[in-house]
Amino acid sequence: MKSELVYLCLLWALSILGAPVNKQRQKVLLISFDGFRWDYDRDVDTPNLDKMAKDGVKALYVTPPYLTITSPTHFTLLTGRYIENHGVIHNMWFNTTTTEKKPYYQTQFVNEWWDNGTLPIWITAQRQGLKAGSLHFPGTASSYQGQVAMVREVEPLLYNYKNETAWRENTDKVMGWFRDQDLDFVTLYFGEPDGTGHRYGPDSPERREMVKQVDRTVGYIRQSAKQHGLTNSLNIIITADHGMTSVYRNGQVEEITLSKIPGFSFRDLSFHLVDFGPSGMLLPKPGKLEKVYNALKGSHPHLHVYKKEEMPERLHFAKNDRILPIILWSDPGYVINGVLQFHKGEHGFDNQEMDMKPFFRAVGPAFQKNLKVGPFETVNIYPLMCHILGIQPEVNDGHLNATKHMLVTSTTTQGEFISD
Ligand SMILES: *[C@@H]1O[C@H](CO)[C@@H](O)[C@H](O)[C@H]1NC(C)=O
Ligand SMILES: *[C@@H]1O[C@H](CO)[C@@H](O)[C@H](O)[C@H]1NC(C)=O
Ligand SMILES: *[C@@H]1O[C@H](CO)[C@@H](O)[C@H](O)[C@H]1NC(C)=O
Ligand SMILES: *[C@@H]1O[C@H](CO)[C@@H](O)[C@H](O)[C@H]1NC(C)=O
Ligand SMILES: [Zn+2]
Repeated sequence: MKSELVYLCLLWALSILGAPVNKQRQKVLLISFDGFRWDYDRDVDTPNLDKMAKDGVKALYVTPPYLTITSPTHFTLLTGRYIENHGVIHNMWFNTTTTEKKPYYQTQFVNEWWDNGTLPIWITAQRQGLKAGSLHFPGTASSYQGQVAMVREVEPLLYNYKNETAWRENTDKVMGWFRDQDLDFVTLYFGEPDGTGHRYGPDSPERREMVKQVDRTVGYIRQSAKQHGLTNSLNIIITADHGMTSVYRNGQVEEITLSKIPGFSFRDLSFHLVDFGPSGMLLPKPGKLEKVYNALKGSHPHLHVYKKEEMPERLHFAKNDRILPIILWSDPGYVINGVLQFHKGEHGFDNQEMDMKPFFRAVGPAFQKNLKVGPFETVNIYPLMCHILGIQPEVNDGHLNATKHMLVTSTTTQGEFISD
């Protein structure tokens, strides 16, 4: 009895002195469901996402950086930097001298592609004494200034990204990392509904079925967190890299075929990246830049053609040596050189297009409950996560201002939390 009283007095004294009482460091799980467009919950019954919004925060939508494709936008989530500033400018590694290209999966293993001067949050967190992990998140396979996320899993080549049973196993694995290895921060990636959105289109019944699978998984994730005893310490942020839009097919519209454009010739280029949906980059041969540019500019009403130095500032996709001198993109519905592309859905368009916007949800002890907020750019998720984790962010393009209204106010100045 007496010792209990002493203990209570001690607690009281500590709380008066401002020392953290029962302080439990906040954990963060960042989840990406690739290609989950902001409005995918509007034509599907999503009880688990609805419950999560009631228990936490839902943003109307978020704005990804341009170029709206997987690796560049995920690296923005991890760094808070626009793509021109972090340097992961494409899903594909390429060398303009040798004209060699590596597809998405192989590019995961090209360290110098990812480690181009900007540290992802795993490394920053670890340098400040926290423990970080990652499962399948783009960028996981690379090292950064010689360091890697301390617990990590990279998917094998030809991985089946749709398997719901595997999604549950991966969820439990990550919750185990938090509980048993006391990780503070983990990123978790699911390759859907992107794959289904590409294959069947965003308006298809297949996409709606996949959204139901995502919703069931969200329910499973929250249940698993609870079973692992993480409810009071774990903040779960669920978002995506980009949205998806339907592609016109089979002569529905006048297609954009570069080889048919008068005055344009691939022979004037020493390198190009154009067979990837709505975006392209060209490196003209010496002395050919004006010729190529003039041939393409204004050649199709739905094709945008820019010299790198004339790119609209708002896209933040110019100031990087890796970006080639001419940049192309098409309006929604159009792809560039569509003859060899069979997708019914695409992304990679202007990030102002509503169809390119992903969703954003968050729940946990750091977040307010039943709060709907307006849109913000995904560069701001990084400073938010750093704040919750109580770590000093690296230089970044986001700002806590954009998201701090989502947080409960009991934060200390160090960004640490006192549970009461
Ligand atoms: C591209 O390949 C050339 C020739 O092998 C090499 O000299 C150059 O360093 C490479 N550039 C990059 C960015 O890998
Ligand atoms: C980034 O990559 C480019 C080549 O693509 C290279 O010239 C540059 O030195 C790299 N910067 C850093 C900081 O790694
Ligand atoms: C799905 O994943 C489970 C668990 O990893 C595995 O046993 C099963 O074979 C997989 N099914 C398919 C169709 O890939
Ligand atoms: C953030 O908020 C502070 C104080 O309200 C303000 O001075 C600053 O301009 C804001 N910064 C941004 C980027 O909105
Ligand atoms: Zn995709």
